[in-house]
Amino acid sequence: MSFNTFGHMFRVTTFGESHGVAIGCVVDGCPPGIPLTAADIQLDLDRRRPGQSRYTTQRQEPDAVKILSGVFEDADTKGQVTTGTPIALMIENVDQRSKDYSDIKDKYRPGHADFTYDTKYGLRDYRGGGRSSARETACRVAAGGVARKVIPDITVRAALVQMGPHKVDRSRWDWDEVRRNDFFCPDAQLASQLGPYLDGIRKSGSSIGAVIEVIAEGVPAGLGAPIYGKLDADLAAAFMSINAVKGVEIGAGMDAAVLTGEQNADEIRMGNDGKPKFLTNQAGGILGGISTGQPVVARFAVKPTSSILTPRRTIDRFGKEIDIMTKGRHDPCVGIRAVPVAEAMMACVLADHYLRQRAQVGENPAWPFKK
Ligand SMILES: Cc1cc2nc3c(=O)[nH]c(=O)nc-3n(C[C@H](O)[C@H](O)[C@H](O)COP(=O)(O)O)c2cc1C
Repeated sequence: MSFNTFGHMFRVTTFGESHGVAIGCVVDGCPPGIPLTAADIQLDLDRRRPGQSRYTTQRQEPDAVKILSGVFEDADTKGQVTTGTPIALMIENVDQRSKDYSDIKDKYRPGHADFTYDTKYGLRDYRGGGRSSARETACRVAAGGVARKVIPDITVRAALVQMGPHKVDRSRWDWDEVRRNDFFCPDAQLASQLGPYLDGIRKSGSSIGAVIEVIAEGVPAGLGAPIYGKLDADLAAAFMSINAVKGVEIGAGMDAAVLTGEQNADEIRMGNDGKPKFLTNQAGGILGGISTGQPVVARFAVKPTSSILTPRRTIDRFGKEIDIMTKGRHDPCVGIRAVPVAEAMMACVLADHYLRQRAQVGENPAWPFKK
């Protein structure tokens, strides 16, 4: 059975296809009384929007979001607030070019979801990949805009930290730089090299992968629902559900395998604020599936875009061996536009766990405990 919903208390259902009339989502479980306007959500959508630089797909979508339900103009507060009922958000598709895809109607792009959708359902919406298109990620970004409002004290930011073999130099990390360049890259020097690098990749009819890092600061200790709703497990599932993601790490991640116990255990002292102070954060802010109060740090790798101009060997839906070359408008590196999507998924998972924690435990117990 298909499944288009995630979250438990902050529940997001997305709908729509790349070349359909509209895409959107329904957010259920958002608490009432939270100020929310379309402009709040639009901020994040504008960062993910296609056609903003020559390094992303040239599809031109305004991605203007409409709030269809779940809000109310409160005369007392003189502003629009959530009502606690389902919030439906809709984004119209305006720049579909379905005929770009008629060539591949019966052909399976290697590395894309064409074969698996056809095998599972017996038909597929080949226009832009239908539901398998990353156009769906706009809905996640819209939901993330609502989630951020549920957890206003938590700051969620993401950045592209690697494209192909080119990695950021962490000593040059500057969050302001993420907003200034076309790659959401925190290292200005690397960002200046990525343009020519990606131009070369595109000119050769190819594509390239990337790594995105997402950091949430201000996360209170205690979020996460052991055993099967661990915060890290839910984050991994959320990131893995993003199109083209092939690997997820939390904290030290795969590198934990080469650390010793001494290097890996985040030592604890008492901070001046009376709270525990962790001396390192190899755990990525999560222990036992529960947030520690440190920044929550995750990373994921996206594969290179499968739709490329270089001919590849494949088969068609009738079992004939053929060669395929994918024209149309595609992202040469999907990692760029995945950055706002990463933030949205982190925000949704944290909002969900924040509400779950409030429902089960309420206020955290007073800490430190008295002897
Ligand atoms: C932001 C973003 C943009 C993407 N743009 C494209 C694209 O232009 N062309 C393409 O073939 N795949 C693109 N993808 C990847 C496909 O949607 C994805 O590879 C496909 O659905 C198969 O799913 P899988 O890679 O997760 O197995 C994009 C992914 C993301 C996250």
